[in-house]
Amino acid sequence: MKNVGVLGLGTYVPDKVFTNFDFEKILDTSDEWITEMTGIKERRFAEDDMDTSDMAVIAAERALEDSGVGKEDIDLVIVATSTGDHRFPAVANILQDRLGLNNVPSMDQLAACTGFIYSMITASQFIQAGTYKNVLVVGVDKLSKIADFTDRSTAVLFGDGAGAAVMGEVDEGFGIRSFELGSKGSGGQYLYDDKDDGKLRMNGREVFKFAVRQMGESSVNVTEKAGFTNEDIDMLVPHQANIRIMDAARERMKMPKERMSSTIDKYGNTSAASIPLSIHHELKNGKIKAGDNLVLVGFGGGLTWGAICLTWGKNKEETHD
Ligand code: UT7
Repeated sequence: MKNVGVLGLGTYVPDKVFTNFDFEKILDTSDEWITEMTGIKERRFAEDDMDTSDMAVIAAERALEDSGVGKEDIDLVIVATSTGDHRFPAVANILQDRLGLNNVPSMDQLAACTGFIYSMITASQFIQAGTYKNVLVVGVDKLSKIADFTDRSTAVLFGDGAGAAVMGEVDEGFGIRSFELGSKGSGGQYLYDDKDDGKLRMNGREVFKFAVRQMGESSVNVTEKAGFTNEDIDMLVPHQANIRIMDAARERMKMPKERMSSTIDKYGNTSAASIPLSIHHELKNGKIKAGDNLVLVGFGGGLTWGAICLTWGKNKEETHD
């Protein structure tokens, strides 16, 4: 059995910071409410002339550079997004062209905020089967395009961003150890884009209840499937939707605050980008190192959910211990 992991990571967030105080100027809301109820302080919004694919290109270039894998060696491109530039062509098709890749297969995958986890697992199956060697996986969303800026219960939650990973074979003892994916289409009514105006609609309460239960359960499941206990997990990297949902998953895992990645205060909910953005943040500040065991866990529209237990890094030489 091949071991499949992340060979390199890259991210991008737009420069424009939109704070809770900026929202106070356009909506009947307050910094206090948003901070207390969600943990968000600010988020990034892309300018009009920067579309989803533009963010994806930058993150992907950075991931390629970080991985040391040449463009000519990428065999497949998968983009997790629900806010593509067009219905078609796919963001992945645009990316394949703009990166100057060979005429390799490229496709978008839609599992809303769970998208990056779905796409990592899809990529890993191709690699494990020996069909493809290196797969470029991108999680990207420009939620500001579909946010309803007249609805205070949703507009304040989201931000724009992109994260990319080059996935391939890693040494034994590294990479993905277990995963879980799921969906429950009957819950689709709780989070969707409106057919009339294309704007995001959500029943926050229902999504909240589902997320609290599922994030905890899936985290525990993948930890056990990997043959680990919570003590073995160095960091929990949850989808950054709401600090209260994230904390509930962490508590179910019986893990202290220091072992959970939290970037929600800075970026809000960036949907498919939130998990790679968080991993990148922790790598930069030294809180994730090669050899660390991580649990990535997410949920989103669909309703969908997914979790991965993996050991970060490619080989022993990287671990420094
Ligand atoms: O990636 C998946 C994306 N979705 C999520 O993760 C969302 C999950 N859900 C949530 O995070 C929470 O449901 C919210 C943070 C969105 C809302 O919290 P809640 O405890 O479910 O509040 P609620 O929607 O029941 O609203 C409570 C009150 C309402 O006022 P009344 O009717 O009690 O007077 C809302 O109108 O809070 C009000 N409210 C706000 N007040 C100030 C809703 N949004 C705001 C706001 N500022 N931005």
